[in-house]
Amino acid sequence: MSEKGCNCNCAQNREEQFKELSPVLEQYAKVPGSLITILQKTQDIYGYLSKDAINYISEVTGIKPAKIYGVATFYAQFRLKPIGKYLIMLCQGTACHVNGSEMIEEAVCEYLEIKDGETTKDGIFTLNNVACLGCCSLAPVMMVKSAEGDETYGSLTKDSVKKILTEIRERA
Ligand code: FES
Repeated sequence: MSEKGCNCNCAQNREEQFKELSPVLEQYAKVPGSLITILQKTQDIYGYLSKDAINYISEVTGIKPAKIYGVATFYAQFRLKPIGKYLIMLCQGTACHVNGSEMIEEAVCEYLEIKDGETTKDGIFTLNNVACLGCCSLAPVMMVKSAEGDETYGSLTKDSVKKILTEIRERA
């Protein structure tokens, strides 16, 4: 038994495992219509909605897991799988689209061998197509989110995006 407790799935252990989530659940668990907010905040904390997190939310809120999965799979914003160390948010908004974001997506997909929503085998990158990132003058744009912070890259070309991803991978 470790200092943090046993390895079983007892209530005490789950509370320890989800201690960052407790304040969220304290605030919203009994507020009707808060499930989406709870799921958004859970994803903000853990990067995705794990089976364990969904079961814990169900336990605390009394909402059945099937309903939580229903909501989590209905909305494209929710992820049920872990994301990579670097989350590529590739803009597909109007300005970026007009300036070749589809071609950039093709280059990223070909280079990383993944599709939108997928994570590379080495767990370094996840690709997500997103709506306008709010810096249309730099179109086509991508933002790369990680524990190091968010970085925005603009005026992308097929070559520049590959170069950026290579550099990130080398320092990962
Ligand atoms: S459309 Fe891409 S940043 Fe606005």
